Amino acid sequence: MSTTYTLDTSTSRANPTPAPVRRLTVPALRARKVDGVTADPIVVLTAYTARQAQLLDQHCDMLLVGDSLGQVIYGLPSSVPVTLDMMAAHGAAVVRGSYHSVVIIDMPFGSYEASPAQAFESASRLLKETGAAGVKLEGGAAMAETIAFLSARGIPVCAHVGLTPQAVNALGGYGPRGKDEAEAQKIRGDARAVAEAGCFAMVIEGVVEPVAAMITAEVPCPTIGIGASPLCDGQVLVTDDLLGLFERTPRFVKRYADIAGMIGRAAADYAAEVRARTFPGPEQLYGVKK
Ligand code: KIV
Repeated sequence: MSTTYTLDTSTSRANPTPAPVRRLTVPALRARKVDGVTADPIVVLTAYTARQAQLLDQHCDMLLVGDSLGQVIYGLPSSVPVTLDMMAAHGAAVVRGSYHSVVIIDMPFGSYEASPAQAFESASRLLKETGAAGVKLEGGAAMAETIAFLSARGIPVCAHVGLTPQAVNALGGYGPRGKDEAEAQKIRGDARAVAEAGCFAMVIEGVVEPVAAMITAEVPCPTIGIGASPLCDGQVLVTDDLLGLFERTPRFVKRYADIAGMIGRAAADYAAEVRARTFPGPEQLYGVKK
């Protein structure tokens, strides 16, 4: 169990934790949207490790410990096998590595759908063990009762509508949602239901642009888009995607770096020097005291 939210810099390789500043809060993020307008868009990235959190924290308003860690960190085929133990361990690391952003943790598949009571047990465990400020869960109208239950009991909930990856087995894939009128109306209904239930924000994922824009105009809470619309009140991406760590990136991802290429080149240079016996060089060697 983690109760230490600052890095022990005497034992960590990481940079010293910056002077404590006030962490943003869920109410402050919720209050960014006034009368349907968010003048200051909400910047969200996923984070799974303490060091990643340290590097992203000052640039973000919210760090999402996404269950995408199943694929990104663990090489799993989907987020379905992700467990509460995984989310708690990575959530605690991200809280330890951050000091400014609101940290939200994904509730993994199977940890909340059975009942509001099951959801409360799982969400309260995540908050107690990590120090995170809230949870995210997938689903629309079917999850409204659970969102109201958690919110009324002091657990801020970020909803997630549209493409809900935990339902990949029911959806049959990760294609965009809301292309036909019936599905668009269903997603709009889901968004209204989770907003009325009291979510402080909602992720809209993989939804055709006009529908995402319409939902953003219709709901009082901030919408966070991914593969949705620039008109959403904020945006989120999987950090490893924007860093260019994977060869295959979906259409909605913009690569801002080529870290995979840099890692490959660094490893190749290291391997060549080891084979040529030029590493370690004199600068890396310990001498004998004279
Ligand atoms: O798991 C995740 O990373 C997410 C974001 C992509 C929204 O849910």
